[in-house]
Amino acid sequence: MSEKLWIFDTTLRDGEQVPGCQLNTQEKIVVAKALEELGVDIIEAGFPISSPGDFNSVLEISKAVSNPIICALSRAVEKDIEVAAQSLKFAKKGRIHTGIGVSPYHIQFKLRSTPEDIIARGVAAVKFARRFVDDVEFYAEDAGRADEDFLNKIIEEVIKAGATVVNIPDTTGYCLPEQYGAIIASLRNNVPNIDKAIIATHCHNDLGMATANTVSGVQHGARQVEVTINGIGERAGNTSMEEVVMAIKCHKSIDVHTEIVTPRIYNTSRLVSKLMNMPVQPNKAIVGRNAFAHSSGIHQDGVLKHRENYEIIDPKDVGVGESTIVLTARSGRAALKHHLDALGVELEGEALREVYEEFLILADSKRDIGRKDLLGLVGKYVEDS
Ligand code: KIV
Ligand code: ZN
Repeated sequence: MSEKLWIFDTTLRDGEQVPGCQLNTQEKIVVAKALEELGVDIIEAGFPISSPGDFNSVLEISKAVSNPIICALSRAVEKDIEVAAQSLKFAKKGRIHTGIGVSPYHIQFKLRSTPEDIIARGVAAVKFARRFVDDVEFYAEDAGRADEDFLNKIIEEVIKAGATVVNIPDTTGYCLPEQYGAIIASLRNNVPNIDKAIIATHCHNDLGMATANTVSGVQHGARQVEVTINGIGERAGNTSMEEVVMAIKCHKSIDVHTEIVTPRIYNTSRLVSKLMNMPVQPNKAIVGRNAFAHSSGIHQDGVLKHRENYEIIDPKDVGVGESTIVLTARSGRAALKHHLDALGVELEGEALREVYEEFLILADSKRDIGRKDLLGLVGKYVEDS
């Protein structure tokens, strides 16, 4: 049996930070329940110190959801941690996620501190959080740009202090997959107590690398991935859950499995898009409108002969239903025939060739060819028969 990959969903925390995506508590509960049905392991429900509304959301989600661990974010500050702990009082399984910046930028310019002080603050935060819960995750903010030895050292110390999960965020989306994988490999090779904690990936998408970096992290030993539905999140977004889950499912060589109920992916994506008022780009992998739509003649012919000629995922497996053959001026005769057959008009040979030529003329002047257009084109044949 392959190892379990823990799915940590931060749609309601990192995703919800996006301007215009804010949800009220009721809406957050709806999303949290959908995430539970989807089979996520951990729901990061909010950053309770940030506002009374966020505090209340974590509290109410903790009551409404039973299976996933409920996680609350805090800075490495006692007051934050206390408030996070209070917000989790109804959680069946609660986790505090605390941490601090670890890159030279963050240490020098944001925190105006020293590496030694950062380690001391990280350790103190973890120890303080362990007074309230057994499950404490430490985030090393901007780990993607941190000094390797310093990152390894702080991770060793926070694990000694009681961190059960160590999160290695590429906060600025800076890394290339090889670099991010090497950071995880270095932790595994150089931190003596690393086996006492789960390593988590948390990748942002500023260079469009979030999914690739996350998968690379898993290939190098990370066993928790922090993701959002549709990849929503600040700036260019976070790692998209559906992409990572399906990449893992498609590539058996990555010897891990998730508990995600993949046929629920599409509906969860639509729900989040609708509630957060955040449209999904049509060519978005897995859940975009065009993800299973074939429009060029060669591809259409291929997919009609055998789906797997041009599809690596069965659309049913992500809840999309059927793939579609779109009729455009790039479509071939096979696609036209496929649509005519569906209308009950079976044309062959010369008749099909004639209709196809008329179809191309129409399609050159029109973006989408629909049912009405097709019936117009074949009217003569239907009447004759
Ligand atoms: O991107 C990041 O570093 C974060 C942390 C707060 C976990 O979101
Ligand atoms: Zn983040």
